[in-house]
Amino acid sequence: MSLTPDEVRAFYDAHRTVRQYVTHEGGTPIPLPDEHLDVILHAAQRAPTDATAQLYSLVRITRPDLRARIAELTTNAHIASASEAFVVCADVQRVRRVLAVTGHEPGHWPAIAVHFGIGDAVMAGTNLLTAAEMLGYQGCWIGGVMNGLDGIISALNLPEGVLPFAALTIGRPAEHAPYRPRVPRPLVIHTDSYHAGTDDEIRDAVEVMNPIAARGRQPGDWARLMNAYFGAGGSMSKREPALRAALERQALAPTD
Ligand SMILES: Cc1cc2nc3c(=O)[nH]c(=O)nc-3n(C[C@H](O)[C@H](O)[C@H](O)COP(=O)(O)O)c2cc1C
Repeated sequence: MSLTPDEVRAFYDAHRTVRQYVTHEGGTPIPLPDEHLDVILHAAQRAPTDATAQLYSLVRITRPDLRARIAELTTNAHIASASEAFVVCADVQRVRRVLAVTGHEPGHWPAIAVHFGIGDAVMAGTNLLTAAEMLGYQGCWIGGVMNGLDGIISALNLPEGVLPFAALTIGRPAEHAPYRPRVPRPLVIHTDSYHAGTDDEIRDAVEVMNPIAARGRQPGDWARLMNAYFGAGGSMSKREPALRAALERQALAPTD
């Protein structure tokens, strides 16, 4: 099967992160038809995988009380109302079991585990979301798992070697999400040699990105948003100790 370049562009231009979904009256989720659920899970598992190992797991969240708990822990309410909600995890415990069950001794490679585990998890989740979009759904990745990592690990009984990367919600859109800009291509796609960009190119990129930070009638200020996340005292600095603690707890912290 092949599509034209215009069709491929139109498909990716139709992508929107959507956080409000069509629900039953009262806000309870409308489940995906079985064959839709089956094919998006199939798509997830068809993702390419490093070393053939499939170092990821998806935890599908179905119980309403668990949906509510994960929504609270991630501070993303739509986990409770989406048609489907998953926690996408790096997972090296399964390959360790493959080794153990077949009589082999596992090596020591915690940094490699994080590198390949997150890579595989992202590829599987991306396939799942893209397949859902092909079926007319939209979704939202939720890095908000970082707001409640310890609680999520406990709530989902994640063993050592399994680390949540993000959650992912899927459903029929109940909001008109805007087309959100991206940083201009020359700063992102490099040819042969890395190009860090001049200060003017960076300032232009900030201008291009400003609308993504607009809230209601307030004009967007992307640099301010980036500062709130990545600046001194921002939310990422606050997440850092929790992620380090989770890496320790899940036996994924690099040690000598
Ligand atoms: C790994 C990842 C984590 C994200 N975390 C959240 C989140 O916690 N909450 C949220 O509402 N959106 C989250 N998003 C969605 C982004 O805000 C969204 O993709 C971005 O604004 C671009 O918008 P677009 O996908 O509509 O083009 C996340 C996206 C990714 C890829």
